[in-house]
Amino acid sequence: MPTAEFLPLNPKTVDVKSFDCGKAAINTYLRRYAAKNMALNLNRTFILPFTREESSKKFRVATYYTLAYQTLMREELPDPTRLLRYPVPVILLAQLGIDQRFQRQGLGSKTLVHALRKAYKIACNPLGIPATGVVLDVLDQDALCFYQSFNFFLPLTDNPLKLFVPITSLETL
Ligand SMILES: CC(C)(COP(=O)(O)OP(=O)(O)OC[C@H]1O[C@@H](n2cnc3c(N)ncnc32)[C@H](O)[C@@H]1OP(=O)(O)O)[C@@H](O)C(=O)NCCC(=O)NCCS
Repeated sequence: MPTAEFLPLNPKTVDVKSFDCGKAAINTYLRRYAAKNMALNLNRTFILPFTREESSKKFRVATYYTLAYQTLMREELPDPTRLLRYPVPVILLAQLGIDQRFQRQGLGSKTLVHALRKAYKIACNPLGIPATGVVLDVLDQDALCFYQSFNFFLPLTDNPLKLFVPITSLETL
């Protein structure tokens, strides 16, 4: 079973190659790009490991997510009225995947909640960097059903596969 704690990805102790969530783009990101992008300070990936087998020296990944900063034009946001005319900062939930052996057991929900709480902590920490909300690109129809099972996502203007949640909505999550 997965451990209880999410950790920043450390490629020295984690076997990224064996992760399989059934979607090539999400697998490839973790296997090939996540550690490299972290080393370049582009974003940060967090993983929930599960207990390694006797024969393996590395932990395997049960679930992962990646957070980054992005900017949006205020016209793209659902409620732009109070925002200024220049691009506004948001936190991008860039990747989220659950290994197939753990899907439909609530781990996707747990991972999403962890990612959103992390975003809230970063954006609302007086010593951190603020963001007006969290944005994400929905991969496909299955993923859309998953995100729609939460009632706080709003579609971004003109694109139902781009979702947004205002940072203030995450205060009580
Ligand atoms: C989408 C994904 C994250 C869901 O993770 P999960 O652990 O299976 O999700 P949960 O068990 O927490 O499911 C919560 C609810 O979401 C909905 N849901 C989840 N997967 C679904 C699917 N494939 N089709 C329809 N609804 C789905 C259901 O309402 C589910 O509640 P239920 O099991 O009580 O019916 C996971 O299937 C995955 O990693 N898929 C491949 C990668 C991907 O698409 N990532 C999203 C990128 S935007």
